[in-house]
Amino acid sequence: MNKADVRDIDVKGKRALVRVDFNVPLKDGEITDDTRIKAAVPTIRYLLDHGAAVILMSHLGRPDGKVVSELRMAPIGKRLAEILGRPVTTLTDCIGPEVKKAVEAMKPGDIILLENLRFHPEEEAKSDDGFTEELASLGQVYVNDAFGTAHRAHASTTRVAYHLPAVAGFLMEKEIEFLGKLLYDPEHPFLAVLGGKKVSDKIGVFKNMANLVNGFLVGGGMAFTFLKVQGKEIGKSILDKNPEQAKEIMDLCAEKGVDFVLPVDIRVSSGIEAGTPSKIVAVDNIPPDMMGVDIGPETEKLFASKIKDAKTIFWNGPMGVFENPDFAHGTYAVGRTIADSEALSCVGGGDSVAAVNEMGLEDKFDHISTGGGASLEFLEGVELPGVAALMDKEKART
Ligand code: 3PG
Repeated sequence: MNKADVRDIDVKGKRALVRVDFNVPLKDGEITDDTRIKAAVPTIRYLLDHGAAVILMSHLGRPDGKVVSELRMAPIGKRLAEILGRPVTTLTDCIGPEVKKAVEAMKPGDIILLENLRFHPEEEAKSDDGFTEELASLGQVYVNDAFGTAHRAHASTTRVAYHLPAVAGFLMEKEIEFLGKLLYDPEHPFLAVLGGKKVSDKIGVFKNMANLVNGFLVGGGMAFTFLKVQGKEIGKSILDKNPEQAKEIMDLCAEKGVDFVLPVDIRVSSGIEAGTPSKIVAVDNIPPDMMGVDIGPETEKLFASKIKDAKTIFWNGPMGVFENPDFAHGTYAVGRTIADSEALSCVGGGDSVAAVNEMGLEDKFDHISTGGGASLEFLEGVELPGVAALMDKEKART
């Protein structure tokens, strides 16, 4: 990475304004997965150990520019304090006189967590009237460690960076280095295992990765659009609005000699709710009144035979309606097979990472990306705005 990082600047006695991605899943006010909070800890500790006061800022959910009490940062501040074993003061806004006062009273070693940035519409707007300046005025250096949000060009991820010395944190650096290896120097055979609902969400990644990989293994709802394009009847399974995009991808793979592997059998059901009966059918026999909800056992075996020979694997997206445990078998099976393989393995995206965590296989993956959309856009070959806005290493040294 040619961008400056926290080691390239002097933070002693300074207030470091740190963009983190604490957009964690919550259920009834409880954090159900704190991976993203833990992932920011090395940067926070480094800054504290090097004499800085740390001001953390993040979004949580999509409150659309309004205060939504369920999306306040308080539970996250509490969890962070437990993880760090030191106090974290969570404020009730991210700008304004009270925030300014609290920040100016900080001493080295203090930690403040600002309120959800997206309570202010200016955070996501293309430009703003003073919001960015107010945020920037809180710190003396800016650190972006929010890889998961680096694909968003928002006030706190890009515009603030133009007001302060702006560097990457360790998480940002680690993500870019690992995903950069997949993008620029992967060991072959390289397989991308892609699932999830829509082909349209992954068009860019398919198109760019067709230049990098030896094969795609495709499951999840989007597999049905590809099967339909192949002339199969898919019953009530999910179908993308633009199936021609799926055809384009398959044509591109054929032209480039990329193995494009679709399910050969499917679990079908009449609904996705828990307890709905289901059965396995061959892809040629999907009943007209049923929908595909998971890959079948023959597909699991087929995918496993490909995974076993791979040297590099990138996985994003579940193989079925994973939120219903009856339809999660294929996702778990694929996750386990990748974990057991000798390939350099990387998983990204909320559901697939959740599956890996639920199975306790975190340690068997070489990299668990904290970015869903961000890791996909990175592998599309797009320069992420949150990274582009940071200082070049050369500039930090002069
Ligand atoms: C994510 O969870 O992918 C990031 O935090 C970005 O969130 P967003 O899609 O709401 O911008």
